[in-house]
Amino acid sequence: MSFTQISRRVPPRLYRSKLFVPGSRTELFAKAAASAADVVCLDLEDAVAPPDKDKARDNIVAALNDVDWKQKLVTVRVNGLDTHWCYRDVIALVEKGGERLDAVMIPKIGNASDVYAIDMLVTQASLAAKRKKQIGLEVIIETTMGLTNINAIAGASRRLESLHFGAADYAASAGMRTTNIGGGNADYVMLTDKHPNAARERHWNDLWHYPLFRMVQAARAHGLVPIDGPFGDYSDPDGFRVQAMRTAVLGCEGKWAIHPNQVALANEIYTPPAKEVERAEAILAAMKDAQAKGLGAAALNGVLIDAASIRQAEVIVRQMQLIRERT
Ligand code: COA
Ligand code: MG
Repeated sequence: MSFTQISRRVPPRLYRSKLFVPGSRTELFAKAAASAADVVCLDLEDAVAPPDKDKARDNIVAALNDVDWKQKLVTVRVNGLDTHWCYRDVIALVEKGGERLDAVMIPKIGNASDVYAIDMLVTQASLAAKRKKQIGLEVIIETTMGLTNINAIAGASRRLESLHFGAADYAASAGMRTTNIGGGNADYVMLTDKHPNAARERHWNDLWHYPLFRMVQAARAHGLVPIDGPFGDYSDPDGFRVQAMRTAVLGCEGKWAIHPNQVALANEIYTPPAKEVERAEAILAAMKDAQAKGLGAAALNGVLIDAASIRQAEVIVRQMQLIRERT
């Protein structure tokens, strides 16, 4: 390990599913609160039409105070720093949103100064409102500028808790020729080599791998939680599953749900599979035995395990422990 220690910024908590709810659709608030989502995100940004922004802000402030959000993490996505709604969103939420608000989500983050600006507003408004609980910040990496500056962004504020990947805006920002929100694209493929006796196979590639992978690295290097963003086709559970499974393996702790039918899927996929948990527990037990015998490395079913295996296994076992406590 480096002499520099990285500590996780947030207490152990579940992020498997983050259900988005447009701030203009008040009839959905109680449904979201009653859902099985680990996190709720009340939206003021792209799911709210411009004429409804002020009303949606009022709706959300009221709902933060009146709805029973149970043990959920409650977050609100504000409008971007390039709009004239952003400062009002932040001030209203922090001054009038009550203590139930856990975090403010900033979309389309471009650089560390964007985080600094919101931190300053949240800090001043928190002091003025005499808030007891610290409000966290979540940012969405969804522009090429945001991805380029991601390390500075991830280190920009002690309030930061998590980084999220927004596929649609990212694709637009990068000029990618796709209208998919997550998922595959039949034109992003490789052909296997020419062979006289075999047809060439088309192998699909993951359009989103690079930004997501980079986001996981930046998040973890700063003690933040990486979260995968939306999968637009909420009528395609299989597509959601494989996208979520890839990012769960990569290190993301959860994914957005843009429809309630994605909540159970996300909760399932970001729960470590039983066979992984079993193996992780077996590794910890086998290493305990090995260490009792003075050994640093050992074999488990013909495979090397050592101190690094303990750290890998602990990631899975800790996550499972949290989930067992919840259920
Ligand atoms: N939160 C809670 N409940 C929701 C919900 C949400 N985001 N979206 C839909 N529901 C409820 C509906 O009210 C309905 O409930 P009912 O069975 O009691 O009647 C049920 O879930 C099924 O909804 P459905 O009719 O399939 O959806 P819809 O056509 O009303 O809405 C969307 C579809 C995609 C427009 C809607 O889910 C939505 O707005 N999602 C969030 C979008 C968002 O915030 N995007 C920004 C981040 S990318
Ligand atoms: Mg977006």
